[in-house]
Amino acid sequence: MLDTRISRRAALMGAGAMAAWLASPARALLAAAGRVQTPAFIGDLIRRMTLEEKAGQLQLMASAWGGGVALALNPPQENSDFPKQVDEARKGLLTGVFNGNGARMAQILQTAAVKESRMKIPLIFAADIIHGHRTIFPVPLAEVASFEPDLARRTAEAAAFEASGAGIDWTFSPMVDVARDQRWGRGVEGGGEDPLLGSVFAAARVRGFQGASLKSNEHLLACIKHFAAYGAAESGLDYNVVDISDRRLREVYLRTYKAGFDAGALSAMASFNEINGVPSTGNHWLMTDLLRGEWGFQGFVVSDYTGDEEMIAVGFAKDGRDAAKIAFLAGVDMSMQSGLYRQYLPSLVRSGEVPQAKLDESVRRVLALKAMLGLFDDPFGRIDLKRESARSMLPQTRALAREAGRKAIVMLKNEGNLLPLPRSGKRIALIGPFAAGQHDLVGPWVVYGDDAKAVDLATGVRAAVANPSSVTVAQGSGVEEPLAGGIGQAVAAARAADIVVLAIGEGANMSGEAQSRTEIIVPPPQQALAEAVAATGKPLVVVLKHGRALALEGAVANAEAILATWFLGTETGNAIADVLFGAYSPSGRLPASFPLRSGQEPYYYAHKPTGRPNPPGELQPYKAHFRGIPNAALYPFGHGFTYGRIEYSGLRLSGPTLPMDGTIEIAATISNRGTRSAEEVAQLYIHDRVASITQPVRVLKAFRKVPLAAGQSEVVRFTLRPSDLAFIGPDGRWITEPGAFDVWIAPSAESDGVHGSFDLVA
Ligand code: BGC
Repeated sequence: MLDTRISRRAALMGAGAMAAWLASPARALLAAAGRVQTPAFIGDLIRRMTLEEKAGQLQLMASAWGGGVALALNPPQENSDFPKQVDEARKGLLTGVFNGNGARMAQILQTAAVKESRMKIPLIFAADIIHGHRTIFPVPLAEVASFEPDLARRTAEAAAFEASGAGIDWTFSPMVDVARDQRWGRGVEGGGEDPLLGSVFAAARVRGFQGASLKSNEHLLACIKHFAAYGAAESGLDYNVVDISDRRLREVYLRTYKAGFDAGALSAMASFNEINGVPSTGNHWLMTDLLRGEWGFQGFVVSDYTGDEEMIAVGFAKDGRDAAKIAFLAGVDMSMQSGLYRQYLPSLVRSGEVPQAKLDESVRRVLALKAMLGLFDDPFGRIDLKRESARSMLPQTRALAREAGRKAIVMLKNEGNLLPLPRSGKRIALIGPFAAGQHDLVGPWVVYGDDAKAVDLATGVRAAVANPSSVTVAQGSGVEEPLAGGIGQAVAAARAADIVVLAIGEGANMSGEAQSRTEIIVPPPQQALAEAVAATGKPLVVVLKHGRALALEGAVANAEAILATWFLGTETGNAIADVLFGAYSPSGRLPASFPLRSGQEPYYYAHKPTGRPNPPGELQPYKAHFRGIPNAALYPFGHGFTYGRIEYSGLRLSGPTLPMDGTIEIAATISNRGTRSAEEVAQLYIHDRVASITQPVRVLKAFRKVPLAAGQSEVVRFTLRPSDLAFIGPDGRWITEPGAFDVWIAPSAESDGVHGSFDLVA
C-alpha cells in the first residue's frame, strides 16, 4: 500500500512534489531564496552615476521594436520609435524594456547599453510570460484545476526555458490575486478563489520560473503581482476600488503574495486598485511597512503599466511630478511605462523632496537583481539568436502542454457514464464555435503564442477516433453573434450523428484584463444553439471553453456530460480528446465555484454562515437565499468526477483532541469501486463552530491527489497543527482559540465525504 503518511507541508505541496523537493539541491537553496546579495562593485557604480542615470535605472518602458507586441496588448502610448529607444539605452535613461520581440531586438538594445552608454549597465528584458512563451500551456486558472502544484512548477520551468532562450530575463508572473467574483476577467490569470490552493501554486510557479539560481540562462526572475488585493475589485469591475477589512485582507487576499515571496520571488508589481482609499502604487503601509518591514522582502517593486500616473485620475496626486514622488516614497522602486520617474526623480532629489539615499537604495536593489541574473557577468547570456529557435516548441515541451491540458480538464457531470466515448462505431457531430478552427486556442494573456500552431478540437478528435470521416463539424453559431443558418446546419449534423459534442463558451477576448462581464453565462446565441441541438434528443457532451467559472443553464446544464476545459493552449484538441476518449481519466477539480446563477456573484465556498441558513432540500421563507434558488453552487469548489467510482469511508482521528502544543492526524479510506483507474483529489476542510470572530462554513486546509487503480483502496492521512486553525482575532493578530471543530475529508467543498469533529484544547 502506498505510504500516505505525510506532513501538512507535504500535503500542501501535493503528491509527488514533496519527495522530489526533499531530495533536491533546491531545498538547500531555499534557505537563501528571497535574499539579495549586493556585490561591492554596485556601490562603486552608484557613486559614479548622475541623478539622471539613477532615475533611468528605475524606468521600464514597453519595447518600441517595430511597433511592439506590447503596444497591442496595453493602452497605446507614445513609444513606437525604436531608434529613439536605442538612444535612451545609450544615454542610460532606461533600465530595460518589456514585451519586446525576441533576441534580435534585445541584442541591439543591449549593445547600446553595455558598449555605448557611459556606465555600461546592462538592460533587463521583461515580458508577460503568463502561461508559456511559444508553447502555450493552459491558462493559470486551468492549471490550478489540476490540484497538482508540481505540474505548475514544471510548466513554469519550461516557459522559462523557452523565454530565456529568446532574450527574456524577467517575467511579470505569477499573478496570484485571489478572485472570488467571477465577473472579474482577470481571475483567468490566477489561482482561483481559495488562498491555500492559490498559495501552493504561487510558490510552485516561483520555483519553476526561478529555478535553483537566477544566474542560469534557463531561468527567469519571477514577479508577484498584482500587489495587493487586485482580485477584490468592487463588483468584479476591473481597476475598481477595493474596500476591505484588514482581517479579510490578511486572512484571504495577502496570503498568496506572501507565499510567492517566501518561495523566493524577488520582484513584485503594484496593483492598479486602491485599498481603502489609498492606491497600492502610493501605499506606504503596503509597499514598505508590510512588504519590507513585516515580511522582509528584499527585491524590488515595479509599478503596473502607468499605475503611478493613474494616481492623478483617482485624485491622489496633483500631477505627474506629485505622482512620481508619492509612488517612489511609498516604496515603488521602478516605474513602468509612464516615464514619470526619469522625468521627475532627478529634480525631486535636487529639491530635497526625495532623499538621495532613498534613490540610491532603489537603484541598488535593481542593480543587485541585475547582478543576480548574471547580467553584469554576461549581458548577452540569454540573448542568442540560435538558442531562441533551438528552444522553441520542442516536442517534449508540447508533450508537457498536452499533459497539463488534460490534467486541467474538470469533468463536471457524466450521467449514465456517457464518457468516455468509444473510438469507433459511432458517428460524432462536433458542433459549436469552438469545434474547429485556429482561434481562441491559446487563450488570453499570450504575447508570443500562436493559435495557428495550436491543435483545435476537431483535429484532436479526428486523431483519436478509428475513422476520422465519422466526425462531422458544424459551427452553429458565432461566439457572441448568431450565425445565419448556423442552427439549422447544426441540428441536421446532430440528427445524422449518434453523439453530439458541443464546444461552446467564452472567446479568448472575454476574459483577461478589462474583460469583466455582468453575466457569467454562455452567450445567448450559443445557448440558443445548445437548446436546438439538445432538442434532437441525441446524447450530448458539452465541452466548455471559458476563462472563469460560468453559470450554466437550460440545455447546457442538462446535458448528460459536461467538461470544463478552460483555455488549454497549444495542445487543446489533443488534451480534450485524451479525456473524451478515455486515454486519460479526468482528475481536475474546480478552483472556482460554478454558482447556480450569475446574480450570486461573488460566490465562494468559504463564505460565512448567516443567522438564517436555509436547510437543504426546500426553500424556506425568511431564510438566506435568493428568490427561487438556494444560495449554493451548481458545481462547488473542489468538484470534479473521474472515470472511477470513488467512495469515502472510515474517517479516523488520532484522538478526540488537538492539544495547543501538539498535532492531530485525520485519516480516511478512499476506494475506487469502478472498473477504470482514477486519480482522486482528497480535500481536508474544517469549520470552527464557535469563535470570537465568526468563521466560514468550511475552509480548505490540505489536499492530496491519490492515484487509485480499479478496485484499489488507500488510506489518506493529513496532520493538523493548532496554527492551521488560526484566524485574525478581535485585536487584528493571528490567534488560535480552543473549541470544537468539524472536519471533513471530502471530494469537494460542498459534499459530505466523511465528517467528524475534534476539540482544540488549551
Ligand atoms: C497588466 C500587467 C502586465 C502589464 C505589462 C498591465 O496592463 O495589468 O499584468 O504585466 O500590463 O504588460
